[in-house]
Amino acid sequence: MSSIIKLENIVKKFYVGEPNELEILHGISLEVEEGEFVSIVGPSGSGKSTLMNTIGVLDRPTSGKYILDGIDVGEAKEAELSDIRNQKIGFVFQTYNLISKTNALKNIELPMLYAGIERSTRLKRSKELLELVEMGDRAKHLPEELSGGQKQRVAIARAMANDPAIILADEPTGALDSKTGRLVMDLFHKLNKEKKKTIVLITHSNELAGETDRIISIRDGKIISVKNNLKNKDKNIAKNRSINDEEAKLEEKSKLNKNDIKTIEEKIQPDNENTTLEEDNNGTKSQVKTNNKKKRKNSKKNNQKEKIDKKIKKEGGEK
Ligand SMILES: Nc1ncnc2c1ncn2[C@@H]1O[C@H](COP(=O)(O)OP(=O)(O)O)[C@@H](O)[C@H]1O
Ligand SMILES: [Mg+2]
Repeated sequence: MSSIIKLENIVKKFYVGEPNELEILHGISLEVEEGEFVSIVGPSGSGKSTLMNTIGVLDRPTSGKYILDGIDVGEAKEAELSDIRNQKIGFVFQTYNLISKTNALKNIELPMLYAGIERSTRLKRSKELLELVEMGDRAKHLPEELSGGQKQRVAIARAMANDPAIILADEPTGALDSKTGRLVMDLFHKLNKEKKKTIVLITHSNELAGETDRIISIRDGKIISVKNNLKNKDKNIAKNRSINDEEAKLEEKSKLNKNDIKTIEEKIQPDNENTTLEEDNNGTKSQVKTNNKKKRKNSKKNNQKEKIDKKIKKEGGEK
């Protein structure tokens, strides 16, 4: 195996040379093997996204060396860098970053359009990718017509458009509930296992990080630990899936319970008892729904009142 990402002593500064120069990454060295699935964890503000932007060639490091799939990024010209981004890397963001006025299929087509791929091939591949993320029936939907999880699946399909070697995901489950996050995570496992994609995942969740091959912890712009997680990974995936299944079952059960209660209530108070006959001004009789909830509440109240009255009488008598 060879390193597809090789960072050597990467320093990233903002406002370089100005009095308020800010050093965010303080010499990061990291290698990621082809086909590896690694996670980067660390508190907010520790430099994870800055590191991701460097790995994704969205931003150049201030100093240090970065070799991406054999290409020295430091030596590459701007036009080359944009080709590298387009061809080698697929990005997935927390907020999806889909083009809002464009449907799912066209969002996926876009990176292929930039790559100069002809229309029929673009269309064919977009459809295949939509199927891959199980969104085939949502091709014509605009992002605003999709749920968060569905948007993220479209974004993952888009990331795969030019069949990149690497997928970089910056908190892709950060805006999703745990059930939807599970779907997204399983999709990454599929891309890693079946499509052999190298994946770098930034996450706040230790549980999800526990599903990856290696866990890289960063703090204040430095790597503080690298944990080889190959042994635990599969066990953790199985555990998280079963927790998710349990939660889904409980949710289903509580839905059923609610329905049970409804049915029981309906049995106690059959629908025809909910109506009474009332006479209007013209003497015509019509059925009118009475407020049964209120009725029941009142009769409960009356029962309680009666009980208390009895108790008071009894206690009064004992005195
Ligand atoms: N373009 C920028 N200009 C100035 N400071 C930045 C810029 N991008 C990020 N930072 C700063 O770098 C630090 C790390 O940010 P970031 O990499 O987004 O952290 P994380 O993703 O771990 O939350 C923060 O203090 C942030 O304010
Ligand atoms: Mg971030």
